[in-house]
Amino acid sequence: MNMFSLFNLARPAIFALDPEKGHRLAIAALKRMPANSAFMLQAKPGPLAVEVAGLTFPNPVGVAAGFDKDAEVPDALLGLGFGFTEVGSITPLPQAGNPKPRLFRLVEDKAVINRMGFNNSGAEVALERLKRRNGRGGIVGINVGANKDSADRSADYATMTRIMTPYASYLAINVSSPNTPGLRALQDEGALAALIDGIMAASKETVGEDGPPVFLKVAPDLEPADIDAIARIAIDKKLGALIVSNTTISRPTLKSRHADETGGLSGAPLKALALQRIRDFRKATGGCVPLVGVGGIASAEDAWDRIRAGASLVQLYSAMVYEGPGLGARIAERLERLMLRDGFANIADAVGTE
Ligand code: FNR
Repeated sequence: MNMFSLFNLARPAIFALDPEKGHRLAIAALKRMPANSAFMLQAKPGPLAVEVAGLTFPNPVGVAAGFDKDAEVPDALLGLGFGFTEVGSITPLPQAGNPKPRLFRLVEDKAVINRMGFNNSGAEVALERLKRRNGRGGIVGINVGANKDSADRSADYATMTRIMTPYASYLAINVSSPNTPGLRALQDEGALAALIDGIMAASKETVGEDGPPVFLKVAPDLEPADIDAIARIAIDKKLGALIVSNTTISRPTLKSRHADETGGLSGAPLKALALQRIRDFRKATGGCVPLVGVGGIASAEDAWDRIRAGASLVQLYSAMVYEGPGLGARIAERLERLMLRDGFANIADAVGTE
């Protein structure tokens, strides 16, 4: 039985559970995936392979941060056919996050609201797991954040860079979670430039000039001036990519009874905003900084729209809550057909052609 039919069978049982317990169950199931199935589906790069920031992604469909916060199942996710996965967000010290309930399924809206607040087991625990898988191949980005109670949040990012750089395919700097009060202020121009300088210096100190590329993950709730400033910094500091975007604090019209919960909204209602932000960043960067499109992607058509709008890679999380973790492979398969249908021989040629 494949992962799709397995998930369809299990979905009513998972949806009867509190969402956080459902998530733990999904991680537990992925942990039990036989080791030999890892990488099964991504043996050699085919027509979907895409090069970004010096890395060759076997296909452009990845797992967004937050699904595997503690780096428990990167190989299982790669084995399911994702082209890459991003673990984290990880903070220097373990942290419990916000009081429960803090994760809500908005079933009628195919959406999720979360105010998890960077719950994670901390750098030490994740590092041990990442060290154990080191050398296995596959693209595993490490998404880093700051502790809520840290006296110096910028220093936390430098610390995380020193710890994680040797094990990261790429580092993702998360300054866009809405659930750590004040964190998004690090997206402001002066603060952001200084933050990135600190991260680049920490990387150079640890592994020299050839450290992993640094990706920056931004919020969708940005004004045009913020977008221009971030684009300038991305170009100036030679960021490997911009990840666009995190969850939104805005609330489009929603049907679910959980619509008014505080936190970041993701899934289908984020799609239009996240797509628009890809267009905005494509324009603001003049296409010279690669973009990772994330937010409301649930189908190959969604992924293809994001690529045509300017994304070189895409990621998803919320759609997996509704469709199961086999979704990445299904999207990748159909994406290849859409690419060929529209007369493109590879993904890179299609980026930004809408
Ligand atoms: C997230 N997301 C997230 N992002 C991040 O950079 N660090 C994190 O720790 C988390 N945690 C997290 C938890 C939960 C429960 C959700 C639903 C999301 C944001 C995620 O990576 C992504 O940017 C958004 O969810 C939008 O994509 P989807 O979910 O609409 O595909």
